[in-house]
Amino acid sequence: MSLIETIKNIPKAELHLHIEGSLTPELMWQLSEKHSIALPYNSVEEIADAYNFSNLQSFLDLYYAGAGVLIDEDDFYQLMWAYLSRCSDENIVHTEIMFDPQTHTERGVGFDVFMSGFLRAIEDAEREYCISSYLIMSFLRHLPESDAFETLAQAQPYAEKIHAIGLDSSELGHPPSKFQRVFRKVKEQGFKIVAHAGEEGPASYIWEAINLLGVDRIDHGVRCQEDPALMTYLKEKQIPLTVCPLSNLKLCVIDDMKQHNILSLLEEGLLVTVNSDDPTYFGGFLNDNFIALSHSLDMNKEHVKALAMNSFKASFLPQSKKQEYC
Ligand code: HPA
Ligand code: ZN
Repeated sequence: MSLIETIKNIPKAELHLHIEGSLTPELMWQLSEKHSIALPYNSVEEIADAYNFSNLQSFLDLYYAGAGVLIDEDDFYQLMWAYLSRCSDENIVHTEIMFDPQTHTERGVGFDVFMSGFLRAIEDAEREYCISSYLIMSFLRHLPESDAFETLAQAQPYAEKIHAIGLDSSELGHPPSKFQRVFRKVKEQGFKIVAHAGEEGPASYIWEAINLLGVDRIDHGVRCQEDPALMTYLKEKQIPLTVCPLSNLKLCVIDDMKQHNILSLLEEGLLVTVNSDDPTYFGGFLNDNFIALSHSLDMNKEHVKALAMNSFKASFLPQSKKQEYC
């Protein structure tokens, strides 16, 4: 079996995926017509052509605008169903999906609307494709901590359906310390915790996420290499990093995929995983991320197997389930 076939066939988990970042230009166009929402583009091709980012903020501006076409329960169902159908094609058997409630509640679209659509698609995918899915609710870090507290309160009726709470959006200038009070409450309520850190932000943000928020995983984390003591800590504690290669390239965290440090982190013994982040914006779903690595790095089947195994180890699946794959 070729390396590409191994990538495609091996069962995998995806742990870092923003559902709003899986909105295809086609669905964005279709929903804008359905709801008579004017987009600043004249065609599906123009939407795709607009995806030229130079950093995280220029991406986020487009990503939040794009999510504006999501209005009713069926829109959120279609969004989730399209992603989970893609998972089925890619042999992703388990996925932990982030969603940004504040992107929707601030437009008057409530938890009842998006949670119902998400959960209906997740149940259908479980039945039709045997894919298990967990939801990760993420706070937008460019907003004040008081908004995160309010979002946590609004989520209470759905607490049983949410496995973890995360932190995303503009990293620089919004360190994890800004959210330490709300994450104390999150921890008291028994949720798992993840946070984006060390994508554009420095290694010190990764330390803050660990020491002040008590994270179970770090999203991105690729800048950990700037701090040898942090590397040692991540290795010893086996704190997972959910790395997103095509995202790093598209947002200019690296200039060339040949510079990506994921395989050196793997070989150093860190628990790294491959993920797609915002696949329709960054030019590829999960298998595309593996394939892009295989084209630019000296990657072999053992690397692919180790990365796939790590995706289950780093997941929030119960131990008995993890053992089925590891
Ligand atoms: N980083 C921060 N926030 C995000 C991202 C990301 O890669 N994707 C969606 N929200
Ligand atoms: Zn992300």
